[in-house]
Amino acid sequence: MNPGRKVLVLGATGRLGSGVARALARRGDRVVLTARDRGKLEALAGEVGPLPGSAAPFVRADLGDDAAPETIVDGIRRSIGRVDDIVIACGPSPRTPFDSLRREDLRHTLAVHAVAPLLLVHALAGDLVEARGTIVALTDAGVTRPYTNHVAYLTAKGALQTGLRALAVELAPEVRVNMVALGILVDPEADADPLQMHRLATRSPLGRFGSVEEVVHVVVSLLDATWATGEIWGVGR
Ligand SMILES: NC(=O)c1ccc[n+]([C@@H]2O[C@H](COP(=O)([O-])OP(=O)(O)OC[C@H]3O[C@@H](n4cnc5c(N)ncnc54)[C@H](OP(=O)(O)O)[C@@H]3O)[C@@H](O)[C@H]2O)c1
Repeated sequence: MNPGRKVLVLGATGRLGSGVARALARRGDRVVLTARDRGKLEALAGEVGPLPGSAAPFVRADLGDDAAPETIVDGIRRSIGRVDDIVIACGPSPRTPFDSLRREDLRHTLAVHAVAPLLLVHALAGDLVEARGTIVALTDAGVTRPYTNHVAYLTAKGALQTGLRALAVELAPEVRVNMVALGILVDPEADADPLQMHRLATRSPLGRFGSVEEVVHVVVSLLDATWATGEIWGVGR
């Protein structure tokens, strides 16, 4: 895939979304950022603008709101005009202990991880088809190998995977839709208990957690993988 693409990054202020946005900007793509936190969006936009001193466009939207897809499309139309590709790296991975699982936990995680991204792709389908675009979404190895205390999150990621695989068929052959199912990444803030972390890491055959750079490398490779659609590449399992 040639650089110089216009790429919408959902969850752009997160660890992985910001890593992807920086990598794409470095290779000459034009990124449009979206998330909720204005301060983080402004800071990152200043870093990844198309020219030194010019900021990248961004749109603030809460994917839990019904209006989010429309808000993001409006922001794109008013700034960069159209998009060619989308990277979906949004949303929290909340702990929802089974004993206290609530309807709201399921409703919210499904809205943020699956309903809003799928409706957004639907709303931008014309752009993607015209650009012969591609979508790459981050999902979780836990969908096929579940772990405890995350029923809502894993259900939502499963819905995203199924929805995007269906869209890979709906949008073929013009648009490619693929996913990366991740194991656990190193998190210097969260990894406070070394023993617990060691136990978790040794569940992986590689015996360690992944880095942001390792995931970014796979996302960019999958954006460029012109003979792949409907695929879920696993890393860090
Ligand atoms: N890190 C891991 O170990 C790991 C493992 C497996 C899968 N994943 C998946 O990879 C993706 C990125 O992970 P990450 O570690 O980069 O997560 P992160 O650092 O927590 O970032 C999450 C991003 O989503 C945005 N976000 C959260 N709630 C939102 C909402 N309601 N509306 C709009 N944006 C929202 C956040 O921005 P604002 O707060 O500004 O809105 C942020 O930009 C996620 O889908 C995650 O499930 C991560």
